[in-house]
Parts: sequence; C-alpha cells; structure tokens
Amino acid sequence: MRIVLLGAPGAGKGTQAALISERYNIPHISTGDILREAVKQETELGLKAESYMSKGELVPDEVVIGLAADRLKQPDCGKGFLLDGFPRTVAQAEALDKVLQNMGIKLDAVLSLDVDETEVVRRLSSRRVCEDCAAIHTSAVSEDDIAKACDLCGGRLVVRADDQPEAIRRRLQVYKEQTEPLIQYYSGSGILKRVPASGTVEEVFGRVADVLKS
Ligand code: AP5
Repeated sequence: MRIVLLGAPGAGKGTQAALISERYNIPHISTGDILREAVKQETELGLKAESYMSKGELVPDEVVIGLAADRLKQPDCGKGFLLDGFPRTVAQAEALDKVLQNMGIKLDAVLSLDVDETEVVRRLSSRRVCEDCAAIHTSAVSEDDIAKACDLCGGRLVVRADDQPEAIRRRLQVYKEQTEPLIQYYSGSGILKRVPASGTVEEVFGRVADVLKS
C-alpha cells in the first residue's frame, strides 16, 4: 500500500501514521521527523532547515524533494510506504509523481485528515514530544505530566520549537496557502479520500481503516 497523508498542522497525521504503519507494515516517512532529526544532529541539512521550521515556514522545495526521493528509493519502501507531510506544495506533488513514474509505481490512496482550526490549535498548544524517540504524547497533558518521562523510552517530554503560538499561526496560514491546494490537485485522481479527524484517536483510526479497506 502506498499512501499520502494530508492534513493541517495538528490534524493528527503523525498519530494516525504510527497506527497505519503498524497495521499495514509499511514504513512511516515523515519529512518533519527527518528534518527535526537533522536539526538535532546539526547536519548541513539541519542547519539549513532550522530557521524555516522554527518560524513555521516551509523548507524550500528543492531540499525536501531530494530528501523524499532518496528515502523512497530505500529497499524497505518496496513493500509500500506512508508519506506524512510530503508533498506539501503543488511543486512537491508534481515532483513526487515523476519520482513514482520513474520507479514504475503509483499511489493507492491520498488521505486528507479534516479537522477544524479551533481543534488543531488546541491540540498543538498542548502537545508534548519525546526529545529522544520523538513519540507524540496526547494533548491532554497537565503541568504535572510535563515533568514526566516518555512512557516508551524514558526520554524527556518537551514542547516542539514550532508549537509556540506565533509559529502555530504561521503554520496554519502556510497550510492554507500552499498545502490546501493539493486537495484540488488530487481531487480528479480518484484516490483522494476525505476523513473527518475530530473525535478520539481510535475513532479516527476506525474511519481511516474503513477507507483503506475500500
Ligand atoms: P511536520 O512535522 O510535518 O508538522 P505539521 O504538518 O505541522 O504537523 P504536526 O506534526 O504539527 O501535526 P500532526 O498532524 O502530525 O499531528 P499529531 O499527530 O502530532 O512539519 C514540521 C515542519 O517541517 C514544517 O512546518 C516545515 O517547516 C518542515 N517540513 C516538513 N515537511 C515539509 C515539506 N514537505 N516541505 C517543506 N517543509 C516541510 O497530533 C497533534 C497533537 O494532537 C498531539 O498532541 C496528539 O497527541 C494530539 N491528537 C492527535 N489526534 C488526536 C485526536 N483524535 N484527539 C485528540 N488529540 C489528538
């Protein structure tokens, strides 16, 4: 199964991607996670990406397209893949089409997780992530919980650099301007599926699984 996951910041892409990846045994490819790891390791890519990411801007297309294309050529993608956060612009979607065409393969589904803006701001404002394994922790985190360690690896839970109010506002604006047009881009393809993403994580995953079954 070859899947693209679309959705606003905070729509729950990373959360659902982890579940889909486990259920269908396909690699979860998150350009956001790859870039954050590069920032953490202070690689050349990370140094280039950091200033864009912390302000809530997109990293330039030419950087991200190369990164995604390289990752799709890894052997584990032979059994399928789940792209989370890529493509994010029409130029990236066109580049992805070319990469897949050259590989002689096609996407099976483009899932758009749809949730209203009030809810995404609420989710992002209270998200904590593990500094070590990048696991996403539920948004119902109290001040006491912040002091707690990651229940998967014991790492420290932190606020993502781009989950500050100003960066959240900018990310939502960038989403509307540059990523939402992808709904239109994929709408004629017959593989775009809109999935309502409010409700619990389990309810949303139930809808995702139903859509993928069909
Ligand atoms: P990226 O990491 O992709 O961030 P994003 O798209 O802004 O999405 P998020 O990770 O913030 O949210 P999500 O939808 O994954 O939600 P999550 O599951 O965490 O990109 C970060 C940056 O990298 C970009 O801004 C850009 O700079 C750069 N970048 C990445 N890809 C790029 C590209 N292709 N081109 C250019 N630049 C790129 O959930 C959020 C919270 O809600 C969590 O706390 C979670 O526990 C909670 N939650 C999830 N589901 C539910 C639910 N059903 N009910 C209640 N809470 C829920």
